[in-house]
Amino acid sequence: MKLAYMTDVHLNFLKAEAFADYLESIKEVNPDGILLGGDIGQANSFEFFLKTMAFDLKAPIWFVLGNHDYYHGSIQEVENKARELSKENEFLFWLDSCAPIKLGHNIYLAGCGGWGDTLLGDFKNSSVLLNDHIYIDELSEISREKLGVTLRGEGLKAANKLRDQLEQIPQNAEKIYVLHHVPPFRESCWHAGKISDNHWLPFFASKLLGDALLEESMKREHCTFKVYCGHTHSGGNVSISDNLHVRTTPAKYGNPRFYVLNLEE
Ligand SMILES: [Fe+2]
Ligand SMILES: [Fe+2]
Repeated sequence: MKLAYMTDVHLNFLKAEAFADYLESIKEVNPDGILLGGDIGQANSFEFFLKTMAFDLKAPIWFVLGNHDYYHGSIQEVENKARELSKENEFLFWLDSCAPIKLGHNIYLAGCGGWGDTLLGDFKNSSVLLNDHIYIDELSEISREKLGVTLRGEGLKAANKLRDQLEQIPQNAEKIYVLHHVPPFRESCWHAGKISDNHWLPFFASKLLGDALLEESMKREHCTFKVYCGHTHSGGNVSISDNLHVRTTPAKYGNPRFYVLNLEE
């Protein structure tokens, strides 16, 4: 099985022709499925991009959402839309709302977007203000304290979804692919070629996802976990343990790329 994997494509920055060319280049490799790691567009456009991709590529698209997909909207509304899309379109699967996907013999896929949950780095002393805190309803015009509470709450929801999915995967699984938007460990949170510092880490990484992955991978020592994430737009690979590997994927606005993954990889 051959997958096309991409993240942080930010398709709202592309002209129609460039979007069509991008889809054409994916079609040329004839993937059996697409893994799409979030930051697809914004609240008013991610649906259009997903439907167009589904119509054009006619292959299952397993996606998670990124923070930008909520811009100019609310978390609640965007997630309702993603859930609906997943129900009504035969090619679209919002991983947050799906049971684990069986990709091959003893190979499974799970995933959820996740949030920078403020638990890594130094949230209290960080003065970082992201566009998230202006353009996402639930995160805007609230105190710094409430922002922390909200982000930890969203982070916990995501981690609980992940735990629930991983628990449903049969014990004889040999390989589990996990797709996130937000990097799950400090060590996987590159920004501009380095690990993010304590000011940025609270918003760029999710400790709660990392804890869930580490716990589950320790319970299944004969199973390899391959985690794919993006969000920081800076790439790197790290092995957290012998069976838990994270790939953070680079990205550039206006220049979406994709990678071909062979499941035997
Ligand atoms: Fe992004
Ligand atoms: Fe992002």
